Amino acid sequence: MNDERLVVTGTGIRTIGQMTMESIAWIKKADRVLYIISDPIAEEMIKTLNPSGAESLQSFYAENKPRLKTYHEMIDRTLHCLRSGEIVCMAAYGHPGVFAYPTHESVRRARAEGFKARMLPGISAEDCLFADLNVDPAMAGCQSFEATDFLVNGRMIDPSSNLILWQVGVLGDTTFKPYVYDVRGMPQLMQKLYSYYSPYHDVYIYEAPLFPGVEPVIRKVPLYWLPNSGVSAISTLYIPPSMPPRVDTALSQALGLNSQG
Ligand SMILES: C[S@@+](CC[C@H](N)C(=O)[O-])C[C@H]1O[C@@H](n2cnc3c(N)ncnc32)[C@H](O)[C@@H]1O
Repeated sequence: MNDERLVVTGTGIRTIGQMTMESIAWIKKADRVLYIISDPIAEEMIKTLNPSGAESLQSFYAENKPRLKTYHEMIDRTLHCLRSGEIVCMAAYGHPGVFAYPTHESVRRARAEGFKARMLPGISAEDCLFADLNVDPAMAGCQSFEATDFLVNGRMIDPSSNLILWQVGVLGDTTFKPYVYDVRGMPQLMQKLYSYYSPYHDVYIYEAPLFPGVEPVIRKVPLYWLPNSGVSAISTLYIPPSMPPRVDTALSQALGLNSQG
């Protein structure tokens, strides 16, 4: 191991089986393990690996509190531990750098203050989706957006490609809710998706299992049924291509691709 003062690790989606060996090593080695994980098995595993240093950051969340405010409190706590001279491991579920602001920002701020910091990759929900839905991004490519960003920032998509929308179950809600989010942007999302896809195009609500032996949730519904499909805070929406690619025949021929098997 090197001389890092801050290491940000991911525990995977299904911690038992997906937490990497290097994450385990850093969780054991750190003076302080600050974790942003709500699943009880993952929490127990962290506490077992580092009984004296494990500290949950989940308590910063509160109902209706803006998530950004919570994230800044988590970052402040992380920097405080670093400044006190502790070796800090910050652990988040999934991949710690995928759709995770406090982890990235902690690395940036730690480096700006002269602490050696690095992030280790983990297994994200998208990795699980590729495996469970049998989707290879090499076939047709894959566009991946945060759902609210996709909607409000005019993101463009190519319907001949795969599309993944994250956080569709918290669309338009920037606060924390312990149970059900107010998915207030759903009508506008449907309007935008209808400009690319038929209402009858099949889409998938996907939830990777958190525990060993549990099957993934895979709900295939026609697009028009999406608002009734029971999306939750851990749902990811997958939309397969709805049309073939627009092949540039001349370019394809110039590259000799048509003659290859
Ligand atoms: C704040 S992001 C965290 C992503 C996480 N860092 C990762 O690597 O997967 C939360 C979003 O990730 C996706 N997500 C989280 N858990 C999931 C699960 N078990 N199955 C499918 N998607 C999940 C959902 O789109 C959810 O709204």
